[in-house]
Amino acid sequence: MDKQAAYTLTVDGLSVSYGNFNAVQNVSFNVRKGEIFGLLGPNGAGKTSTLSAIEGLLKPQAGTIIVNGNNTVSKQLHARASLGVQLQSTSFQAELFVIEVLQLYAGIYGVPAGKAELMNILKEINLEGSANKKFGELSGGQQQRVSLVIATIHNPRLVLLDEPTSGLDPQSRRQLWERIEAIRERGHAVLLTTHSMEEAESVCDRIAIIDHGKVIAVDTPQGMIDKYKDDPEVVAVSRRGRITLEDVFIALTGKAIRS
Ligand SMILES: Nc1ncnc2c1ncn2[C@@H]1O[C@H](COP(=O)(O)OP(=O)(O)O)[C@@H](O)[C@H]1O
Ligand SMILES: [Mg+2]
Repeated sequence: MDKQAAYTLTVDGLSVSYGNFNAVQNVSFNVRKGEIFGLLGPNGAGKTSTLSAIEGLLKPQAGTIIVNGNNTVSKQLHARASLGVQLQSTSFQAELFVIEVLQLYAGIYGVPAGKAELMNILKEINLEGSANKKFGELSGGQQQRVSLVIATIHNPRLVLLDEPTSGLDPQSRRQLWERIEAIRERGHAVLLTTHSMEEAESVCDRIAIIDHGKVIAVDTPQGMIDKYKDDPEVVAVSRRGRITLEDVFIALTGKAIRS
């Protein structure tokens, strides 16, 4: 297998600008088949802009993005067909019934699923009793479950999740992690963004720390800790004498609070 074929996503030299402002600068990373890859960065780091470029919602200033062998510019339709996307705080029409939301997205993706199949999908996420509730009436965790199911209804090779678990309680978060891991079990790849070190350590096979639009480090969570554990700046910010991924993150991205 050549190198390219081992990657579900290749991002090479990506730059994204808003007017004169360079939000993403020369970002490169790969996501392998069957890998959960995390983009870790403070607010404004450029995570959502990176995902938007991969999705084709934003035109990059520079760089190449290959999804499942398809260039997102020259083979846009093929690239998009390989993608499932859960945007940050996705808001479906809150007034739609849950079953209608599923019908809508099955239709958009051309998935031939009748009502019985969609009810089965709801059963899998323990929401069979909520088919006729309005989406807006569901709890945050329930809404996230529906969002993930919709993002993966066409069984995409690459799933993009923008802060999938922010605001969820621990139970809902665990459940979502299991669903994300189930995507990996199918051999498909996941690219997610998160602020949560715990999430990065618990579910991500590899992570990239990104700040001010640049990739600072790419490694496994443990590899990242091992690499920086003796760095004086990391040791200086560590608490209780044990070096954590958060210590590495804070040392690499600085202590200043981002708005
Ligand atoms: N539509 C936009 N117009 C202008 N600036 C933007 C726009 N979207 C994002 N930005 C800026 O680009 C930078 C990166 O934003 P974003 O990709 O949303 O970061 P993150 O998702 O990591 O919080 C931030 O400084 C943000 O203010
Ligand atoms: Mg964001």
